[in-house]
Amino acid sequence: MTTLTADVDLNVFRRYAGLSLPRHVSYPMPTWWHNLDTDEALAMHRDSDEQNPGYDLSLYLHIPFCESLCKFCACNKVIQRKNSAGAAERTERYVKALQHEVRRLAGTVNTDRPMRQIHYGGGSPTYLSIDQLQRLHGTVVDAFNLTPDAEVAMEVDPRTVSDEKLACLRELGFTRLSMGVQDFHEEVQTHVRRVQPLDMVEHVVTTCRELGFESLNFDLIYGMPYQTADTMRDTLEQVIALAPDRIAYYHYAQIPEKIATQRGMDYTKLPSSEAKLDMFLVGLEMFEQAGYDFVGLDHFAKPAESLAQSAEDGTLQRNFQGMTTGGGLRLLGAGVSSITHLLDVGFLQNIKDTNEYIAAMERDDSVIERGKRFTFDDRVRQMVINQLYCTAKIIPAFVEAQFDICFTEFFARELDIMKTLEDDGLVTADEDGTVSVTRPVGRVLVRNVAAVFDGYLDPEAYRKGEQAYFSVNA
Ligand SMILES: C[S@@+](CC[C@H](N)C(=O)[O-])C[C@H]1O[C@@H](n2cnc3c(N)ncnc32)[C@H](O)[C@@H]1O
Ligand code: SF4
Repeated sequence: MTTLTADVDLNVFRRYAGLSLPRHVSYPMPTWWHNLDTDEALAMHRDSDEQNPGYDLSLYLHIPFCESLCKFCACNKVIQRKNSAGAAERTERYVKALQHEVRRLAGTVNTDRPMRQIHYGGGSPTYLSIDQLQRLHGTVVDAFNLTPDAEVAMEVDPRTVSDEKLACLRELGFTRLSMGVQDFHEEVQTHVRRVQPLDMVEHVVTTCRELGFESLNFDLIYGMPYQTADTMRDTLEQVIALAPDRIAYYHYAQIPEKIATQRGMDYTKLPSSEAKLDMFLVGLEMFEQAGYDFVGLDHFAKPAESLAQSAEDGTLQRNFQGMTTGGGLRLLGAGVSSITHLLDVGFLQNIKDTNEYIAAMERDDSVIERGKRFTFDDRVRQMVINQLYCTAKIIPAFVEAQFDICFTEFFARELDIMKTLEDDGLVTADEDGTVSVTRPVGRVLVRNVAAVFDGYLDPEAYRKGEQAYFSVNA
């Protein structure tokens, strides 16, 4: 156990931890979205234009393909060995479908508006060949008004990216890369089928630095089989020595009832919730000692990094990419399962099946499957939940400035529940409705605090396991 664990009342922690509460990468959660037709989707775009004519843009592109399966993976991916029958043809059709969708999306917005952020996620976008990456990104650049200082990012699998591909990304103007590192411990890597030795990651990091990428992110996961606080400490020492600019320190999301491949995990080797708390606190201690700022639920960033800056200036936003600096941007999603976030209006999501997506694009049909138009209540709660995750605070004046409500009246029931959470040490709550999440315990259990403000959950969900749920898309 760490010295930090000694600061946490384990009885309180046990009562709250372990519930499958949403992580709120979106609010309302996808569970509450519904089927939408094209007319409704277009109407939402138009409403967004009217309500927010001065919008700036961001774009997310999803590439689902991966060479091999990592057992823990909860992402929307398609495992496709490069030399398997039909793989090359399907990949090429997918790239063309995506190019078509990018052009079509450009038709739904004013393309004179500045495009400030582009993120390619997956799956593994680096699965694509250099030629495919060049063509796809060329289409994006032609379709939108990319600003000279735009953040252009890609998720990179260090096992399959070559030096040539990294150089190609740099030439295309990519500024940020995010790497799946997960864990350096050999036993863990073998068990989860994600074997990538330290020197492999070190080589990619060195190459990225030589090529001049502005920022590197590492994804790590704690809470998987065979991980302990000691193995994590070793991994984190190696991570810190490589000095990434950002770190996503994810809690392992285990949903075998929805992700069949997770059923192959050895559940007898899963750490207990106290051991996971210990792992999180080891991370918090080591990252902060190494000079990283703790930004929200599971992200750390060097103080000069835009994520840390964004936490300071209040533009940090929680969304499907984790924490992003893109608060206030209209997010367009392209590709299978991608999500469009029309500010103040709602979410739209594409179909999740890759073959169906390709076929629909080839027919020039709609690929939007579902979405959610925000109610007034959704927007108020969205702002509060975002504040909790991104700043560990609710400041009623900010909410009242945006919406014509009296905060303490609107949230009378929730603020009453805050008194219980205050007694248990998760928050401090003032008479005017200001709520501050404590650290470390409140920060670790911030999902329990946010659950109280989620209008779709029983307000008691923060402590009732049977009321809680988890969505794969969380
Ligand atoms: C799309 S993947 C990253 C890009 C690339 N495919 C790779 O693996 O290097 C995004 C990240 O989600 C995280 N992730 C995937 N499944 C997870 C799970 N079940 N629980 C927590 N994090 C998970 C991993 O850290 C992974 O790096
Ligand atoms: S973690 Fe990355 S490489 Fe592994 S299966 Fe998931 S998306 Fe693919």
